[in-house]
Amino acid sequence: MMQVTQSRPLIVDGLTKTYPGGVRAVRGISFEVTEGEIFGLLGPNGAGKTTTLGVLTTLVRPSGGRALVAGLDVRDEPLAVRRAMGVVFQDSVLDNDFSGFQNMRLHARLWRVPEDRIAPLLDAVGLTGRASDGVRTYSGGMKRRLEIARALLGRPRILLLDEPTLGLDPIVRSELWQMIRALQSGQGVTVLVSTHYLEEAQGVCDRVAIIDQGKIIALDTPSRLIADLGQHVLDLGVGADPGPVLAMLRSAPPGLGEPMRTGSTVSIRPATLNDVFLHLTSAARARTEVPA
Ligand SMILES: Nc1ncnc2c1ncn2[C@@H]1O[C@H](COP(=O)(O)OP(=O)(O)OP(=O)(O)O)[C@@H](O)[C@H]1O
Ligand SMILES: [Mg+2]
Repeated sequence: MMQVTQSRPLIVDGLTKTYPGGVRAVRGISFEVTEGEIFGLLGPNGAGKTTTLGVLTTLVRPSGGRALVAGLDVRDEPLAVRRAMGVVFQDSVLDNDFSGFQNMRLHARLWRVPEDRIAPLLDAVGLTGRASDGVRTYSGGMKRRLEIARALLGRPRILLLDEPTLGLDPIVRSELWQMIRALQSGQGVTVLVSTHYLEEAQGVCDRVAIIDQGKIIALDTPSRLIADLGQHVLDLGVGADPGPVLAMLRSAPPGLGEPMRTGSTVSIRPATLNDVFLHLTSAARARTEVPA
């Protein structure tokens, strides 16, 4: 059993992080990502996603617990850990004064990666035509694609992405998810990705952990999380007293599921990961609570 666990590409075990000043950003998080899996970290602003990824990338020192990347402890072997994976950070690390190619070359030299890997990667992310243009002139989507290409220079078996699609339009977001999926299915890359876009995570992630206030409050496949909630969601009109409507719906024929309040309109629809998120996280607790 132990050996199986040790061979997991990513292991986070009882992780805690309290920042100087006392913010308890991570309060005992444990999860394992299996080989070739796309694992999503979902959670509201300030949940602790970037902090958790920061520990895995060795940029944030854990306060307690363990984190292993490719079997290497982030505290003991930070350099080997960083070599073992590609990282796309929430905040861009590109140098705007350089071209796309120059950014790639900078990174290749830093990590002693042969420069002949640059052109195929720029091609793979569709940036060949703009490679010699300054990154300053790139759109948000182009910058994200360049960051993914940069993260792949070392041919990592593990890829960490922190909000890779934040602030991009739906088409570009969809293209980026397809790219992530292709890396996983084509090359077996293991992916840990944080995102706010739950509908997208639902379609791409094999499993997701929902983080809230530094703790994992749910961890499963998207479809099982949705099934746990009930397959259907009823959006009720919220009047002064929703009690009688709820009582009526609760006595409706079986098969409809437990009624749940998420908005101001009445509807019956299939549940989504978004509903699971709204139901479980504190961000929306006040909105979803049904008076007794
Ligand atoms: N360097 C820091 N010093 C002090 N507190 C920090 C630091 N970085 C993050 N925090 C705090 O830790 C908590 C978790 O932040 P974190 O960035 O990990 O959340 P997140 O889930 O990534 O949020 P977002 O979705 O907004 O990116 C927040 O309360 C945040 O203010
Ligand atoms: Mg973050």
